[in-house]
Amino acid sequence: MKFKLWVTLIILFFIYSFYVYIYSCSEKQPIQPNASVLSGWKVWQNKNCHTCHQLYGLGGYMGPDLTNIASDANKGSDEYMKTFMKYGTDKMPNLHLTEQEMTSLVSFLRWVDKSGKTRVPRESVHWTGTYIF
Ligand code: HEC
Repeated sequence: MKFKLWVTLIILFFIYSFYVYIYSCSEKQPIQPNASVLSGWKVWQNKNCHTCHQLYGLGGYMGPDLTNIASDANKGSDEYMKTFMKYGTDKMPNLHLTEQEMTSLVSFLRWVDKSGKTRVPRESVHWTGTYIF
């Protein structure tokens, strides 16, 4: 009896491991960052944007998460993002960025956006807990 149970568990373990393996093969490959993205990444770090903003939920919580701002229908335009970067608001300081720095920050945020979703929509969650691409 015990033997049958062990065999069943081991078989199930291999079936599930195989399923996870297939799932991990289908995962999107990260897109290589180009020069503009890399310089935006540097500005992001040098200007400490992460102390107030999160990427994938990591960072400060004074400002909003910016992981997927670039694909947001209302906020994803260059103009919208650059307006905050250029002037700041009463809550976000004006960091006196150059036009070049803002352009590369926008490239960086667009690149981050393509890497995945911060909030996984309900319809993208498979019953096993994996993501449906
Ligand atoms: C001192 C904290 C702080 C720092 C540092 C900061 N921000 Fe912000 N940021 C905020 C806050 C707070 C808001 C929300 C502003 C509002 O609603 O008035 C914001 C808003 C934004 C928005 C618009 C977000 C939206 O959902 O509308 C963008 C884009 C942005 N910040 C980019 C940046 C970038 C890029 C940097 C680094 C160069 C940066 N921020 C640095 C606090 C900060």
